[in-house]
Amino acid sequence: MERPKYLTTKPQRAKGLELYAFHVQSVIDKERIHFTRPQAHFTREEKHGWEVQDSPLLPRRLDRFILGEEYSYHATFRSVLPEGTNLKTDIVGVLGDRKGEAIGIDLGGLGSRLFADFPKGFFAKTQGVVLFDSRSMLQCTDDTVSNHGVIVGDITTDKTRESVDRWLGGKKVDLIIERMMGGLDEIPHDLHFLQKQFSVLYDMLSEGGIMFIQVPKFATKLASLWVDVAREESLGTIDVKQGIYHSNQYGSTVALRIHKLPGAPRELPLISQREVRGLYKAA
Ligand SMILES: C[S@@+](CC[C@H](N)C(=O)[O-])C[C@H]1O[C@@H](n2cnc3c(N)ncnc32)[C@H](O)[C@@H]1O
Repeated sequence: MERPKYLTTKPQRAKGLELYAFHVQSVIDKERIHFTRPQAHFTREEKHGWEVQDSPLLPRRLDRFILGEEYSYHATFRSVLPEGTNLKTDIVGVLGDRKGEAIGIDLGGLGSRLFADFPKGFFAKTQGVVLFDSRSMLQCTDDTVSNHGVIVGDITTDKTRESVDRWLGGKKVDLIIERMMGGLDEIPHDLHFLQKQFSVLYDMLSEGGIMFIQVPKFATKLASLWVDVAREESLGTIDVKQGIYHSNQYGSTVALRIHKLPGAPRELPLISQREVRGLYKAA
C-alpha cells in the first residue's frame, strides 16, 4: 500500500497517516501471527490474499479513496434496501425493539469493523466466522471490550456450526450477514448442499430477525427460483428482496435481504430436488 499523497488539508493528512500507520501495524501483526500461531486454514486463506477484508458497514471516505467503492458491506446490499435507508439505518430500524439484546453474526468475515460501526451497545454480542483470524492485538482487545469474538472455522462444516451453537447457548441470531466476495469460491459448488446451508441459516435466525446474503455466482438461477417459492409458500411472512451487486473485483452477484416476519414458517421453503436437478441439466 502506498503512502497517501493526495490528502491536502491538515485533518485529512492526520487521518491518512493514522490509517497508513494502522495498515503498517496490521501487516506486522499478521506476520507475527503467521509465525507464532500457524493454523490449518491458513494455507487456504493465504492462497487468496484477500484485498477486501474486515470491511466497514458503511463507506468511509478514506477507505473509498484508497480501496475503492466496494469496500463496505453497504455497497453489496444497497440494491435490496428500503428506499431512504442505508444498511445501518435499515438494520437498526428493523431490530430497534431488541436494542441491547440483539445478537449478530458475520459469516465469512471478521466482523470487527462491521459491528464497531453500529451504535455502542446496540448488540449484546457479535461474532465473525472466518478461515483465519488476522486481527491485530489492538483490534482483539477492542473487540473483547465490545463483546465481539471471532470463530476460526469453515462455515460449511458441522464442527464450525457446533462452535456457533455453543456461542449462542440456545439463543437465535437477530442479524446474519454473509458477504464473502471471492471467499464464495471456497464454497462447494453443489446446489443441493447450498440449499441445505441456506435452511440452516434460516433456522438460526430469530423471528423478526434479518439476514443479508451474497449468493455465490454458481447459484444465481437457484436464488431466483427460491425467491419465488419463499414468497409464495410463506404467504409474505418471509419478506425477500432480491438485487444485483456489481463488483469490479468479483463481477455480478445476487444480493438477498430476508426478513423473517412473525408467523413465518418454522422451516425454510425450498425448491424441490427435481427442480434443482433441472438446473444442473439446463446449465
Ligand atoms: C474477501 S474476504 C471478505 C471478508 C469480509 N466479509 C468483508 O467483506 O470484508 C473473504 C473471507 O471469507 C472467508 N472464508 C472463505 N471461505 C470460508 C469458509 N468456508 N468458511 C469461513 N470463512 C470463509 C475468509 O476467511 C475471508 O475472511
